[in-house]
Amino acid sequence: MMTSNPLKTMMNNIPVPTSQLIEVIQVKGMTKTFQHESHQVTALQDVNFTIYQGEMVAIMGTSGSGKSTLLQMIGAIDAPTSGQILIRGEQANIYQEPQATLFRRDNIGFVFQSFELLEDLTVADNVAMPLILQDMPHKEIETRVNEVLTQVEMLQWRTHLPAELSGGQQQRVAIARALIARPPILLADEPTGALDFNTTNTILALLQTIQTKKQQTMIIVTHDAYVASYADRVLFFHDGRIVDHYDNERNEYDVGHILEKFKQIARGDV
Ligand SMILES: Nc1ncnc2c1ncn2[C@@H]1O[C@H](COP(=O)(O)OP(=O)(O)OP(=O)(O)O)[C@@H](O)[C@H]1O
Ligand SMILES: [Mg+2]
Repeated sequence: MMTSNPLKTMMNNIPVPTSQLIEVIQVKGMTKTFQHESHQVTALQDVNFTIYQGEMVAIMGTSGSGKSTLLQMIGAIDAPTSGQILIRGEQANIYQEPQATLFRRDNIGFVFQSFELLEDLTVADNVAMPLILQDMPHKEIETRVNEVLTQVEMLQWRTHLPAELSGGQQQRVAIARALIARPPILLADEPTGALDFNTTNTILALLQTIQTKKQQTMIIVTHDAYVASYADRVLFFHDGRIVDHYDNERNEYDVGHILEKFKQIARGDV
């Protein structure tokens, strides 16, 4: 029901008190500088934004604009040079061990362009891995694996090896692995980048179903305006900064509007 979800209600332009929106991630003044041999690269420059519970947000930007770096900061894979991150309103102390590992384990699911499945493990064992690392009892793991493989429509493949699957099927398994620990935040870096158009459609439809049914918060990095049109809104990055944004209206013009903004940014007009 639309009315049970304050965010969706907001998306339908019915005003709701902002206090009803749960701020899952707040990024504040985030800057990341890399030291190369002869020069510095500023991959992120004073980035500020908030992501709400149940939102799907797309990050678009030219190559080298800082998109993957941003996901690494949110996923506590690497630490920013300055700035901070708040998780559900609380300042998160996630950039030192053991907090970083615990934060990733309890909060983040990651999906990559190249799937990153372990090739010697079956589908079921790949998906089970995050729970095995948590020492969950075997019976419980099996139940959860079956549940999540059913969700991504891959249950009948549970004893197969990744090499026996198509790209789209491998990405379904990777999504199942990312979701099995029920992380509040799903991060996806070009999840459809290695897939053809039809397979991209089925993966996007799957992500959208997961978003709607599970109120799953997700951030998807993409070069593709069509992929970005599935999100609730799009943040455009250029040279490490957010330079524009677009709220999808869920009509046939979204892709064109996103593409137009993206072209302007690539031309350096923004
Ligand atoms: N580990 C690193 N060490 C040094 N420089 C890095 C590192 N990671 C990223 N960079 C630099 O930071 C900048 C942003 O890189 P990033 O990978 O975030 O871009 P991106 O937007 O994901 O690009 P693409 O669309 O090509 O994946 C680039 O100039 C890159 O060379
Ligand atoms: Mg990248």
